[in-house]
Amino acid sequence: KKKMILDLDTGIDDALALAYALADPDCDLIGIIGSYGNVYVNQGVQNSLDLLSLLGAEDVPVYLGADHSSQTDSFTVLPVSAQIHGNNGVANIQLPKAQRKPEQKNGVDFLIESAHKYKDQLLFVPTGPLTNLAAAIKKDPEIIDLIGHVTLMGGALTVPGNVSPAAEANIHQDPAAANDVFHTRLPLTMVGLDVTTRTLLTKKETKCWRALKTSAGLVYADLVDYYIEAYKTTNPHLHGCALHDPLAVGVAVDPSLVSKIKLNLKVDTETPFEGRTIGDEAGLNDLSVTTDVAVNVDKNKFLDKFMNRLTPLLAA
Ligand code: BDR
Ligand code: CA
Repeated sequence: KKKMILDLDTGIDDALALAYALADPDCDLIGIIGSYGNVYVNQGVQNSLDLLSLLGAEDVPVYLGADHSSQTDSFTVLPVSAQIHGNNGVANIQLPKAQRKPEQKNGVDFLIESAHKYKDQLLFVPTGPLTNLAAAIKKDPEIIDLIGHVTLMGGALTVPGNVSPAAEANIHQDPAAANDVFHTRLPLTMVGLDVTTRTLLTKKETKCWRALKTSAGLVYADLVDYYIEAYKTTNPHLHGCALHDPLAVGVAVDPSLVSKIKLNLKVDTETPFEGRTIGDEAGLNDLSVTTDVAVNVDKNKFLDKFMNRLTPLLAA
């Protein structure tokens, strides 16, 4: 069975990705690395610990990762992130506190060790900025040829960005880190806004979780209802909330959910296009550093899978 590591900036869709990864019988979630983004890294790590304990998975270790981008000295949560995910990343709900703390080891070292241990069995799924992955590659470039596959949520190729007309949030947080990652031989799939904004969850699904009458069902219904309301204010044309991060988990385990094109990508690091994912004119012939970019998704198949796996977990 494949081993999965998630790298989360634990807001609401990250919380859904976490639950989905736990519920998927086709992979073992072996650890979570915390990142900054929707919230500060400490808050994100606390959210992951609390959610794992809510879901009865206290055995999954949680590691602290980077607290700011590789190019800046500090990090401030964007007002739009606080609005969409709540000030604490989890819809301002006070989750019951986990009875444990994050691991002592740093998340970057955990990723490096896991790459050596599990090699091509390892699936790495970053759903926040790519700072930790870029740092791990820098520290130990051997892992580029060891990791089985990286499936990242981030970027936008065929649609506009969500924090600027050009940029998607995760790539925008650390464009240089993302640019480094796109220029390695890592086996890489980009699950960007091109596909994630087509996989929507609605109040029909949260009603079904609410009806389970379990604490996990209620928390997840509240999280997603908050997310749906917040989405309405920023994306009035969408009827539901986008399953950004869960789709990356879904694709990591079952790549057939999306169709992809192979491209040499780079990330714009110049304003006003900072954070834009675009074809790299300097490397269009270099087939060793391509990224598989998801451009189409079987949304019904994904939503069925997502609900079929998550609902029993929330019911337990
Ligand atoms: C991405 O940004 C974050 O707000 C979400 O958690 C997701 O990972 C979408 O652009
Ligand atoms: Ca995220």
